[in-house]
Amino acid sequence: MDKRELKIDYFVCREGLPAGYEDLCRKAMEISQTAYSIYSGFSVGAAVLLDNGMVVTGSNQENSAYPNGLCAERTALFYAGAQYPQNGVKALALAACYNGELREESVTPCGACRQVMSEVIIRYGKDFDVIMVGKKESVVVKASALLPFAFVFSEKTAQR
Ligand code: THU
Repeated sequence: MDKRELKIDYFVCREGLPAGYEDLCRKAMEISQTAYSIYSGFSVGAAVLLDNGMVVTGSNQENSAYPNGLCAERTALFYAGAQYPQNGVKALALAACYNGELREESVTPCGACRQVMSEVIIRYGKDFDVIMVGKKESVVVKASALLPFAFVFSEKTAQR
Protein backbone atom coordinates (compact mmCIF):
# COMPACT_ATOMS: atom_id res chain seq x y z
CA MET A 1 0.00 0.00 0.00
CA ASP A 2 1.45 3.40 -0.88
CA LYS A 3 0.53 6.68 0.69
CA ARG A 4 -0.39 9.49 -1.68
CA GLU A 5 -1.06 13.10 -0.94
CA LEU A 6 -3.35 15.63 -2.51
CA LYS A 7 -2.02 19.14 -2.88
CA ILE A 8 -4.43 21.98 -3.51
CA ASP A 9 -3.34 25.31 -4.94
CA TYR A 10 -5.58 28.19 -4.03
CA PHE A 11 -5.20 31.94 -3.94
CA VAL A 12 -6.35 34.29 -1.22
CA CYS A 13 -7.12 37.90 -2.02
CA ARG A 14 -7.28 40.16 1.06
CA GLU A 15 -7.79 43.50 -0.60
CA GLY A 16 -10.55 44.25 -3.09
CA LEU A 17 -11.74 41.51 -5.42
CA PRO A 18 -9.57 39.06 -7.36
CA ALA A 19 -8.04 40.71 -10.45
CA GLY A 20 -10.01 40.08 -13.62
CA TYR A 21 -13.04 38.82 -11.73
CA GLU A 22 -14.29 42.05 -10.14
CA ASP A 23 -17.38 42.26 -12.37
CA LEU A 24 -18.28 38.63 -11.96
CA CYS A 25 -17.99 38.90 -8.17
CA ARG A 26 -20.17 41.99 -8.13
CA LYS A 27 -22.80 40.15 -10.16
CA ALA A 28 -22.73 37.28 -7.64
CA MET A 29 -23.24 39.76 -4.77
CA GLU A 30 -26.08 41.50 -6.61
CA ILE A 31 -27.99 38.35 -7.49
CA SER A 32 -27.82 37.11 -3.89
CA GLN A 33 -30.52 39.73 -3.26
CA THR A 34 -32.98 37.62 -5.27
CA ALA A 35 -32.49 34.56 -3.05
CA TYR A 36 -35.64 33.01 -1.66
CA SER A 37 -34.11 32.15 1.69
CA ILE A 38 -36.88 32.68 4.24
CA TYR A 39 -35.94 29.50 6.13
CA SER A 40 -32.20 29.95 6.54
CA GLY A 41 -31.84 33.70 6.11
CA PHE A 42 -28.68 32.83 4.17
CA SER A 43 -28.78 34.46 0.73
CA VAL A 44 -26.33 33.16 -1.82
CA GLY A 45 -25.59 34.43 -5.33
CA ALA A 46 -23.65 32.70 -8.09
CA ALA A 47 -22.43 34.23 -11.34
CA VAL A 48 -21.18 31.93 -14.09
CA LEU A 49 -18.90 33.29 -16.81
CA LEU A 50 -19.30 31.28 -20.00
CA ASP A 51 -16.60 30.92 -22.61
CA ASN A 52 -18.63 33.10 -25.00
CA GLY A 53 -18.29 35.95 -22.49
CA MET A 54 -21.89 35.79 -21.27
CA VAL A 55 -22.71 35.75 -17.58
CA VAL A 56 -25.53 33.64 -16.13
CA THR A 57 -26.59 34.25 -12.54
CA GLY A 58 -28.61 32.38 -9.94
CA SER A 59 -29.54 32.48 -6.28
CA ASN A 60 -30.64 29.89 -3.73
CA GLN A 61 -34.32 28.99 -3.81
CA GLU A 62 -35.64 27.39 -0.66
CA ASN A 63 -38.79 25.39 0.01
CA SER A 64 -40.91 24.57 3.05
CA ALA A 65 -40.00 20.95 2.33
CA TYR A 66 -36.37 21.80 3.02
CA PRO A 67 -34.51 19.28 0.80
CA ASN A 68 -36.40 20.54 -2.25
CA GLY A 69 -34.58 23.86 -2.22
CA LEU A 70 -31.67 24.48 -4.56
CA CYS A 71 -28.33 26.20 -4.01
CA ALA A 72 -27.31 29.27 -5.99
CA GLU A 73 -24.50 27.44 -7.81
CA ARG A 74 -26.74 24.72 -9.15
CA THR A 75 -29.51 27.19 -10.05
CA ALA A 76 -26.98 29.11 -12.18
CA LEU A 77 -25.13 26.11 -13.62
CA PHE A 78 -28.29 24.24 -14.63
CA TYR A 79 -29.73 27.39 -16.20
CA ALA A 80 -26.47 27.88 -18.13
CA GLY A 81 -26.62 24.25 -19.29
CA ALA A 82 -30.22 24.68 -20.43
CA GLN A 83 -29.82 28.05 -22.17
CA TYR A 84 -26.28 27.76 -23.55
CA PRO A 85 -25.56 24.04 -23.88
CA GLN A 86 -22.74 24.66 -26.35
CA ASN A 87 -20.77 26.92 -24.02
CA GLY A 88 -18.30 25.77 -21.41
CA VAL A 89 -17.66 27.56 -18.13
CA LYS A 90 -14.69 29.85 -17.55
CA ALA A 91 -15.40 30.86 -13.96
CA LEU A 92 -18.02 30.84 -11.23
CA ALA A 93 -18.18 33.50 -8.52
CA LEU A 94 -20.05 32.91 -5.30
CA ALA A 95 -21.12 35.36 -2.57
CA ALA A 96 -23.32 35.05 0.51
CA CYS A 97 -25.21 37.56 2.61
CA TYR A 98 -26.54 36.99 6.09
CA ASN A 99 -28.77 39.58 7.75
CA GLY A 100 -28.42 41.72 4.65
CA GLU A 101 -24.62 41.93 4.92
CA LEU A 102 -21.97 40.33 2.73
CA ARG A 103 -20.36 37.71 4.93
CA GLU A 104 -16.88 38.31 6.33
CA GLU A 105 -15.78 34.80 5.46
CA SER A 106 -15.90 33.56 1.88
CA VAL A 107 -18.65 31.01 1.25
CA THR A 108 -17.67 27.52 0.13
CA PRO A 109 -19.89 25.39 -2.14
CA CYS A 110 -21.68 22.39 -0.64
CA GLY A 111 -20.75 18.85 -1.69
CA ALA A 112 -23.67 18.46 -4.10
CA CYS A 113 -22.69 21.64 -5.96
CA ARG A 114 -19.09 20.43 -6.14
CA GLN A 115 -20.28 17.21 -7.77
CA VAL A 116 -22.30 19.25 -10.30
CA MET A 117 -19.20 21.37 -11.01
CA SER A 118 -17.23 18.20 -11.63
CA GLU A 119 -19.82 17.18 -14.25
CA VAL A 120 -19.37 20.56 -15.96
CA ILE A 121 -15.64 19.86 -16.20
CA ILE A 122 -16.37 16.47 -17.79
CA ARG A 123 -19.08 17.86 -20.08
CA TYR A 124 -16.91 20.58 -21.60
CA GLY A 125 -13.50 18.97 -21.01
CA LYS A 126 -12.21 22.05 -19.24
CA ASP A 127 -11.51 23.08 -15.67
CA PHE A 128 -12.62 26.51 -14.38
CA ASP A 129 -11.98 28.96 -11.56
CA VAL A 130 -14.28 29.18 -8.56
CA ILE A 131 -14.13 32.53 -6.77
CA MET A 132 -15.51 32.49 -3.24
CA VAL A 133 -16.18 36.06 -2.21
CA GLY A 134 -16.02 37.36 1.35
CA LYS A 135 -15.75 40.82 2.90
CA LYS A 136 -12.51 39.98 4.67
CA GLU A 137 -11.03 37.86 1.92
CA SER A 138 -11.84 36.05 -1.30
CA VAL A 139 -10.48 32.71 -2.37
CA VAL A 140 -9.82 31.48 -5.92
CA VAL A 141 -9.50 27.76 -6.56
CA LYS A 142 -9.93 25.41 -9.53
CA ALA A 143 -13.27 23.61 -9.56
CA SER A 144 -11.44 20.29 -9.93
CA ALA A 145 -9.61 20.89 -6.64
CA LEU A 146 -12.87 21.31 -4.72
CA LEU A 147 -13.90 17.69 -5.02
CA PRO A 148 -11.13 15.13 -5.06
CA PHE A 149 -12.44 11.63 -5.86
CA ALA A 150 -15.60 13.03 -7.47
CA PHE A 151 -18.00 10.37 -8.67
CA VAL A 152 -17.70 9.74 -12.41
CA PHE A 153 -19.98 7.39 -14.31
CA SER A 154 -17.26 6.56 -16.79
CA GLU A 155 -19.33 4.37 -19.15
CA LYS A 156 -21.70 7.27 -19.78
CA THR A 157 -19.16 10.06 -19.89
CA ALA A 158 -16.99 8.05 -22.31
CA GLN A 159 -19.81 8.10 -24.90
CA ARG A 160 -20.71 11.75 -24.29
N1 THU B 1 -26.44 27.51 -0.12
C1 THU B 1 -26.12 27.89 -1.38
O1 THU B 1 -26.97 28.36 -2.15
N2 THU B 1 -24.85 27.73 -1.77
C2 THU B 1 -23.82 27.33 -0.97
O2 THU B 1 -22.68 27.27 -1.41
C3 THU B 1 -24.10 26.95 0.41
C4 THU B 1 -25.53 26.90 0.81
C5 THU B 1 -27.81 27.73 0.34
C6 THU B 1 -28.65 26.51 0.58
C7 THU B 1 -29.67 27.02 1.57
O3 THU B 1 -30.72 27.67 0.88
C8 THU B 1 -28.91 28.06 2.37
O4 THU B 1 -27.80 28.42 1.57
C9 THU B 1 -28.46 27.60 3.73
O5 THU B 1 -27.78 26.41 3.66
